Order: sequence, then structure tokens, then C-alpha cells
Amino acid sequence: MAETIKDLINGNVSWVNNTLKHNPNFFNKLATGQSPQFLWIGCSDSRVPATEITNALPGSIFVQRNIANMVVHTDSNLLSVVNYAVKVLKVKHIIVCGHYGCGGVQAAMSNENFGFLDNWLMHIKDVYRLHEKELDEIKDEKKKLDRYVELNIQEQVTNLAKVSFIQQEWNNGEFPHIHGWVYSLKDGLIKDLGVSVNNNDALEQVYQYNEK
Ligand code: CO
Repeated sequence: MAETIKDLINGNVSWVNNTLKHNPNFFNKLATGQSPQFLWIGCSDSRVPATEITNALPGSIFVQRNIANMVVHTDSNLLSVVNYAVKVLKVKHIIVCGHYGCGGVQAAMSNENFGFLDNWLMHIKDVYRLHEKELDEIKDEKKKLDRYVELNIQEQVTNLAKVSFIQQEWNNGEFPHIHGWVYSLKDGLIKDLGVSVNNNDALEQVYQYNEK
């Protein structure tokens, strides 16, 4: 585990050497440009790095991460990343990948005061409100958190489907497909939640934009 700044710099040099040993042209090729097929919206948690857990090389995944993998429609950082990925890079898939044991979701489930962070956690609390009946019925706290994590991922997939410029892409073709995945810290495996969408049919009518 890297612990000092020096560890990171030394680690970088070893990584370059290893990479060149296996593929002498690796950096020359990547330096010419990127054409990733995937956009990853994940949690900032240090244990869930997109490329490592999918065994994907640099150049494969365009990435945006924040606390609890949220899609907030006033987050211009996230929306700019999504816009660039969809309009310019033309990614075929957007993956919202959350993880069990997510500290952000756990914090949102509690009544604790986290100061400034409460403003962000509010968006996760909104997901609880939408699914209050189902979640309140789960008495085991651990199982409740697991389900809350899954429902949060599902809601963020829906939040992406509500974005007008994504709906515009769907008018022109089948892409992007939006997927909801959950990662388990315990065994390292990803589970597909089966909530993929590539059209706005399931959205309440008020969110469905006219073609233009
Ligand atoms: Co997390």
C-alpha cells in the first residue's frame, strides 16, 4: 500500500517500466488520442478504482467519481463530463457503479450531522424518501444499507435518463446504454443490477423531452 508521496512517484516509474516491457509502443499509441467506449460514474472510495477492478487499460474508460456515485442535475462538473463523453467521445455505455458498504450512503441513512457534507448527502436522503416504504420494512441494518446502496444506483441511472442531451442521443440511435452495477468490497466482484436503459419510455411523462 502506498503511504508516502515518494511511494507514488516511485510506483509511477515502476509502472512505466513494467508497461514498456510488455508493450513498447503503449505510450506512443495512447499519446495520439483517446476513444473510450465507456463512461464510468463511480464512488470516490479509494477501494473502487474503475480501471483496476475491470482489468481495463488506460484509454478504455472515461471516469467521473464523487461521494456515493451521484448524478445531481446542478453538478456542472459531472454534467460536463457526461456531455463530453456522450457528444464528443460517443461512448456506447455509461456505467453507474456503486458499492456495498458505501460510507456516503451509510452517512445519509443516519441522523448524524456531518456539517458541510450534509448538503451532498441530502441528495442520497432523497433516494431514501422515494423508497421509504421498502427500506423501512428491512429491520436488519446491514441488509437495509445493502438495499439502499442498490436503490441509489438505480435512481442515478434514472437521473441520467432524465438528462435532455442523453435523450437527444437516443433519438438518433440506440446508444448510450446506461447500466447500474454494484461492487462488493468483500470479494471484488461486480454485480449487474439489471436496470439498464437506452430510452426514456419508463420515465414519468414530465421528464420526456420532445425530439428536436
Ligand atoms: Co462509497
